[in-house]
Amino acid sequence: MGEELVRRLAADGWSVAALARREGPLLELKANATRGAVHVHAHDVTDTAAIAPLFETIVREMGGIDLFIFAAGVMPEVGAEEYNTEKDFLQFAVNLGGFVAWANEVALYMQSARAGTIVGISSIAGDRGRKPNPAYHTSKAAMSTFLESLRNRLSAYDVHVCTIKPGTVLTPMTEGLEGLKWPISVEAAVSDILRAIEKKKNTAYVPFRWQLVSLVIQHIPSMVFRKLNF
Ligand SMILES: NC(=O)c1ccc[n+]([C@@H]2O[C@H](COP(=O)([O-])OP(=O)(O)OC[C@H]3O[C@@H](n4cnc5c(N)ncnc54)[C@H](OP(=O)(O)O)[C@@H]3O)[C@@H](O)[C@H]2O)c1
Repeated sequence: MGEELVRRLAADGWSVAALARREGPLLELKANATRGAVHVHAHDVTDTAAIAPLFETIVREMGGIDLFIFAAGVMPEVGAEEYNTEKDFLQFAVNLGGFVAWANEVALYMQSARAGTIVGISSIAGDRGRKPNPAYHTSKAAMSTFLESLRNRLSAYDVHVCTIKPGTVLTPMTEGLEGLKWPISVEAAVSDILRAIEKKKNTAYVPFRWQLVSLVIQHIPSMVFRKLNF
């Protein structure tokens, strides 16, 4: 989704800084940018010591930042009877630790600029503690809560914070997974995400129907919820 967001924002004329670990896809994005410039930086979000100097470099090369979107995330396959601390901590480090470290840096910058938008791609998966991948659900629940706190802090400084909660999107993350519920294309998801940012939504489910699903599942009593097969 991050890749498609860069493509679409650049096509709309934005200057974009794109970050990820693999340099190849980043250079391809840069080479194929249609209107706005794409600046690229190979970066691992778990390298939190690198974030402050890298953010400074990006602000300098772009002349400022209006919009920050955190779209990095990992979801390793976890077996139904598997308890694997290494996999769990990796999800906390990328999905939550990387996000918090970047969001703190950007929040300080936007707070003093008294302008800007912070967007986090969380997930409907954080709305309940489901069976498949406890650490993934936890990382997304924590991310959504952190985003809400940021929104409540930064609204006094005219900084908007938007929480995106996708359902199932066909990306490398979901490739090969069976029984996907209501999958949508990455292009459709990104259109919804950009619309939510433009409309200054606090929280947007992608697509909207997942908001109704969430409303129902959040009200199912725990004793019943644990018997359901999801
Ligand atoms: N797909 C879905 O159905 C779905 C549903 C709900 C929420 N989400 C969330 O949406 C976000 C985007 O997911 P996606 O579906 O677009 O997955 P994806 O296609 O696997 O993309 C994940 C991106 O994160 C980057 N990344 C992973 N680890 C990183 C690290 N340590 N440092 C920097 N970048 C890293 C990857 O680039 P590199 O490998 O080059 O680093 C890749 O660009 C994730 O947070 C995911 O949890 C996805």
